[in-house]
Amino acid sequence: MKNELAKIYANTADAITKAETPEKIEEIRIECLGRKGALTAILRALKDLTAEERKTIGEEANKIRQKIESRLREKKIELERTSRESILKKEWIDVTRPGKQIKKGTLHPITQLLREAESIFASMGFATIEGPEVETEYYNFDALNIPENHPARDMWDTFWLKKLDNSEDRLLLRTHTSPMQIRYMESHNPPIRIIVPGRVYRYEATDASHDIQFYQLEGLMVDKNISIANFKAIIRLFFSRLFEKEITIRLRPSFFPFTEPSFEVDISCIICGQKGCSVCKQSGWLELAGAGMVHPNVFKAAGYNPKEVQGFAFGMGVNRIAMMKYKIPDIRLFHSGDLRFLKQF
Ligand code: DAH
Repeated sequence: MKNELAKIYANTADAITKAETPEKIEEIRIECLGRKGALTAILRALKDLTAEERKTIGEEANKIRQKIESRLREKKIELERTSRESILKKEWIDVTRPGKQIKKGTLHPITQLLREAESIFASMGFATIEGPEVETEYYNFDALNIPENHPARDMWDTFWLKKLDNSEDRLLLRTHTSPMQIRYMESHNPPIRIIVPGRVYRYEATDASHDIQFYQLEGLMVDKNISIANFKAIIRLFFSRLFEKEITIRLRPSFFPFTEPSFEVDISCIICGQKGCSVCKQSGWLELAGAGMVHPNVFKAAGYNPKEVQGFAFGMGVNRIAMMKYKIPDIRLFHSGDLRFLKQF
């Protein structure tokens, strides 16, 4: 038995010396001192020995157990330290090294302009609302006093869509944001002060100033006594704040089916300050919006009594205004996805 003890000690000590991980140390401990371990077996067998043998072998076995336990402990501490060191070595970082610059995106110029416009109008009490880009023929045309076969429909070449069900109404990609005038008045009572920014579509040939898809900003103010004077004041303040300079407004008579009277809105040229330049074609004026007093038929279509309310509406081309503000020469750049363009904003 003494021999066996010596063998167990020698084998275990050897295994401890060779162990390379703390897990291995635990394995060795179980093999030797665990419930079914080699040394445990000897300690259990002591009871079958004579009193004399039990004393000497027992003492010896205990001494060996203590020695093995302390070697296991020391080796485990050593291995844990070296494995910590090796992790530190592997995962070491130099915090003083210059970092990699992460490329930041920027807001699209149209988004920037719309946010600014929304905040200027918000300061004058206008709520921003949005509407569907797929619109019905009724809201896009009929309700806005543009009946079928009316020559005014020619102003809006249109993308018609296939109908999905048997509904009466034909569907199209909206040609302007004006349909939201009707939709909003149908579900709200005056007083009304809203703007409607959004994407619109036209079926037409593209060039530097025409695209099949662009943004408009619609406005509508309705109450008992709203006049053109209110419109002029509001639109002048809007453009002055947007272009960050004093702007003069000029209204020219025009025609829109949904307003009466109707006018084109010109602003004093922001490039030359009315001295005459190529942008304003030497006229000193830039045409930036259409507007007018809401037509009685539009109020009727929305369920209002035109004798009780009046108000103005306007619609402006957002891309055109952004082109002025940021000096962009071609409208097609807006959705070109060209990074050389986008990175400038
Ligand atoms: N919807 C018109 C267009 O797309 C723009 C417009 C003109 C809107 C006059 C209006 C308005 O609300 O009163 O050309």
